[in-house]
Amino acid sequence: MKIRKAIITVAGFGTRFLPVTKAQPKAMLPLVDKPIVQYLVEEAVQAGIEQIIFVTGKGKRAIEDHFDSHFELEYLLEQKGKEEALAQVRGISDMAEFFFVRQSYARGNGDAVLATRSFIGDEPCAVLFEDDIVDSEVPGIQQLIDIYNKYQDPVIALTQVPHAEVSKYGIVEGVQIGDRLLEINKFVEKPNPEDTTSNLAVIGKYIITPEVFDQLELLKNSVKGELGLDNAFIEVLKTKPLYGYELEGKRYDCGDKFGYIQAMIDFSLKHPEIGDKVRKHLDHIL
Ligand code: G1P
Repeated sequence: MKIRKAIITVAGFGTRFLPVTKAQPKAMLPLVDKPIVQYLVEEAVQAGIEQIIFVTGKGKRAIEDHFDSHFELEYLLEQKGKEEALAQVRGISDMAEFFFVRQSYARGNGDAVLATRSFIGDEPCAVLFEDDIVDSEVPGIQQLIDIYNKYQDPVIALTQVPHAEVSKYGIVEGVQIGDRLLEINKFVEKPNPEDTTSNLAVIGKYIITPEVFDQLELLKNSVKGELGLDNAFIEVLKTKPLYGYELEGKRYDCGDKFGYIQAMIDFSLKHPEIGDKVRKHLDHIL
């Protein structure tokens, strides 16, 4: 079945990024002139996604406004003959069909995904977490869709991380079955470095199937604390294949100050309008 829908989780408090995230959604922080969440939407749309559901929460209204049309602004730009800006502003709300569901309590990323179930129905769909930006020729989520189309089972995005950092991520082990492709046989969420030999970490991009929702539903009352997608994957693994694909491209953790600054520098160097100036500036100060 074609992947038409994507879930983008944007309900996080952004505690690693306080105080800027106190009253502003983390996903609305800019990378040059576009908010992080717009890069995620563009990634999904380039991969053929038609409908996007955001899992939001308190204080996230700016995200709804960003993907809505803005009559007054469009009128003003039209009056002033600012065609380019007008096309840009209109283009955002026209990219896909947008839907929103609120997660009232921060009960984990699995709980956030589960909140979209009646919208997703019985289709496979893409999931994108707000922190993970991948700069690649083929959009990250498209790389996962290509694997899904071949195997029709859930696919998780992976990247290699230094072993000392495994405790920040979901870590997988498995059998290499192709270029960058793993059939996963073990999934551990945030292990201690001494408890795993693997350094293949999960990035927040996934293709999930109805079985993942079934497991989330079954687990929702039994898991203590937060319900994570990892809890569901561990169960799915018992009965179905689960694939991991080491994404091509450069991954940025935009939920982290340093990761965000790296993304900002790299994206500004590539920006057609200011790239050269930024390069000269960096040459000058370094
Ligand atoms: C989540 C997932 C984790 C994954 C990470 C990637 O963790 O639970 O498996 O490695 O995203 O960004 P979080 O960073 O939300 O704690």
